[in-house]
Amino acid sequence: MTTAAAVHSADVALSHRAARVIPGGMYGHQAVRHLSPAYPQFFAGGEGALITDVDGREYVDLMCSWGPIVLGHRDPVVTAAARAQMDLGDCLDGPGPVLVDLAETMVDAIADADWILFGKNGTDATTACLTIARAHTSRSVILAARGVYHGAAPWCTPVPTGTLASDRAAMGYFDYNDVDDFDRAVQAAGPDLAGVLLTPFRHVEGEDQQLVDEDFARHVRQRCDDSDALLILDDVRCGFRLAYGGSWEALGVPVDLSAWSKAIANGYPLAAVTGREALRDTASTVFLTGSFWMNSTPMVAALATVRRLAEIDGVALMQRAGARLRAGIEAQAADCGLAIRYTGPDVMPYLTFAGDDDRSRMTCFAEAALAAGVYLHPKHNWFMSCAMDDSVVDRALRGTEIAFAAVRRHFGTP
Ligand SMILES: Cc1ncc(COP(=O)(O)O)c(C=O)c1O
Repeated sequence: MTTAAAVHSADVALSHRAARVIPGGMYGHQAVRHLSPAYPQFFAGGEGALITDVDGREYVDLMCSWGPIVLGHRDPVVTAAARAQMDLGDCLDGPGPVLVDLAETMVDAIADADWILFGKNGTDATTACLTIARAHTSRSVILAARGVYHGAAPWCTPVPTGTLASDRAAMGYFDYNDVDDFDRAVQAAGPDLAGVLLTPFRHVEGEDQQLVDEDFARHVRQRCDDSDALLILDDVRCGFRLAYGGSWEALGVPVDLSAWSKAIANGYPLAAVTGREALRDTASTVFLTGSFWMNSTPMVAALATVRRLAEIDGVALMQRAGARLRAGIEAQAADCGLAIRYTGPDVMPYLTFAGDDDRSRMTCFAEAALAAGVYLHPKHNWFMSCAMDDSVVDRALRGTEIAFAAVRRHFGTP
């Protein structure tokens, strides 16, 4: 019989080496120690909608590297553009011309953008939005929805170890989509309200996702206007996947500042802040920088990504793939007599099982899916990419069919 250690031999060997030199063996949200031991920690490569772990096992990648992969792994157009830039030089004494090309392209693509600044990570972008809002209003308080992730800085990390109460002293919280609770928070902030930070919809680990209530979004906009406070959209996870450009453009709710990252460069490290004209001067006075913020390769990759998404109508492709996955999963669950909720937009779905308070059903499902060649996360929403054509989605569905059967076998029907 093959042992688990033999099956994962390269991953196990790397994990042992990592345990000696990396605190905890791995850090952050990509550490797999909280997942089933079947999850590989290390990956060797990716191609289109597939990823391969260091033991050579191939999976349909429903995580898309936690969002950045929007066109597909190693998209040929993006890869060729990035390679050409690397041949010229990446990290120079200042930005390359691509900074201006990309800035023009993104400002054109994003309805509420009159200007743009670039950074590396989503946390850079959300933090910069808060700094600009506070500088512009000369006020302190930022309101955010409870439990929603905005990054790993002391003001927002979900694991506050090593942070100070004062890091969050100027934050206020409310329940997403709850007008009364929001109004209470606005009142508590009083004349010191600088801004409200919201994600396009509510995505909280392990919980059903909640689309934004349009009346709530309009209400927040109105309250911000009444208080001369800024509405900040954290589009780091959703931007250029939920919609081309701003996720709330279709709602007709304008925002003052937006934070971007993940999908804008198809896996190359880049983040951005966009804002409205009235904030341009403030944005020019705040000190925002980093050693690698001007690197040209991620910007070239972003330019290729954003143009390609427009050319192929990438959002429509992802919606089609997402709708096919949703229909297939809902049909499979019904066939197995399992009660599930499949929540969120089709391009960023999440699955929960009824009565699964200890998440044992979801753990079983994810483990069985993994063994059947589908990489998904049991607690985090999944992502669709443009590389997921019908055959890829059907391949994923063959894995989820096996996973539902495993849940039914272990837990029966409710
Ligand atoms: C909504 C949202 N904001 C901010 C961030 C932080 O982005 P990063 O991990 O690139 O710092 C994330 C990351 O998942 C996110 O989903």
